[in-house]
Amino acid sequence: MTQVSIILPHGGQLIDCIAPLNKREEFLSQQNNLPKLLLDERAVSDLVMIAIGGFSPLTGFMEEEDYRSVVENMHLSNGTPWSIPITLPVKEEVANCFREGDLIRLDNSDGEFIGVLELTQKYKYQKSKEAIKVYKTEDEKHPGVQVLYGQGEINLAGPVWLLKRNSHKLFPKYQIDPKESRKLFQEKKWSTIVGFQTRNPIHRAHEYIQKCALEVVDGLFLHPLVGATKSDDIPADVRMKCYEIMIDNYFPQERVTLAINPSAMRYAGPREAIFHAIIRKNYGCTHFIVGRDHAGVGDYYGTYDAQEIFNEFDSSALGILPMKFEHAFYCKKTQQMATSKTSPSKEEDRVHLSGTKVREMLRKGNMPPIEFSRPEVAKELIKAMKN
Ligand code: ADX
Repeated sequence: MTQVSIILPHGGQLIDCIAPLNKREEFLSQQNNLPKLLLDERAVSDLVMIAIGGFSPLTGFMEEEDYRSVVENMHLSNGTPWSIPITLPVKEEVANCFREGDLIRLDNSDGEFIGVLELTQKYKYQKSKEAIKVYKTEDEKHPGVQVLYGQGEINLAGPVWLLKRNSHKLFPKYQIDPKESRKLFQEKKWSTIVGFQTRNPIHRAHEYIQKCALEVVDGLFLHPLVGATKSDDIPADVRMKCYEIMIDNYFPQERVTLAINPSAMRYAGPREAIFHAIIRKNYGCTHFIVGRDHAGVGDYYGTYDAQEIFNEFDSSALGILPMKFEHAFYCKKTQQMATSKTSPSKEEDRVHLSGTKVREMLRKGNMPPIEFSRPEVAKELIKAMKN
């Protein structure tokens, strides 16, 4: 049987830091003697992403050299492209409880022993520098900056092991790790796969750009982010339900794979687009959709900054191809979804609604126009808003 070749993970090798049985037993036997650290939701999802290879080539939380290099130059210290710092910040008094060389027991919010950090370094970092470089603003109204300014001043760093992986409470069947998605794509004989990042309920513009991409590649990997998001984003269970509805009614099911992305949202716009692309490369995607204001929030970033940033990277080092789409809308003149690249319409012929406007309509129980949202999806969103 001929094997379809699959894209190499970022850095060349898929990282696996899930503790093998012997290591697990060794750690468990020491569990009451190890210094302990309680992880927040983002740190748990970062730990999981590192362990399952979603953040390959990272094997742990970043040491200072990599951290500085990523913040300054968007590359790891060995020259591999990487745009977002992956760190484990703690308050100074907490950091003082640990010594370099310690094995630290990592617990989740339920007090479960889920991982181990081999502490190789503790270092101070400059929050304002990280804010300006990564988020392009120091405004604390920016949700990513808000997290940054609220976190500890010392980064703990070193390799990690994941000991306990709970299946996702709501979406166990969509919990597909990079190792599995890679295998799945080979079984499906897809050699070109486009990844789609999203944190919002699916609307017609999303569907349009997904389908435009699907016209030219073998398969679509729908990969909604289900890690921490800001409080006014629509919850992941509702968004996933909308995706199920869409796949059942509006997509050729055999050409689509739906899976959850456990990572936390940073809202870092252009830098996060690069990060999102790298993650999908690790899951086996060859292409990645970048539309308007990808991973943006408010008006901190220009509409196409997240597309332009790809020009700053050596495309072979990045290894995954961006598929860039202009702002899509329903065009009343040509009676179809379009962008200004394909439609001669003027502003008054274009149906596009802001997220705030749509949320307001849904909250009042009003259906957004069919040109904006599939009615089955709108009904589901109205139902969710009532609960
Ligand atoms: S994001 O924060 O995950 O980027 P969202 O779920 O809204 O937010 O977007 C998912 C993807 O669809 C991103 O690549 C975004 O740029 C793209 N996108 C969203 N709306 C549009 C639109 N109207 N036209 C073109 N691209 C869009």
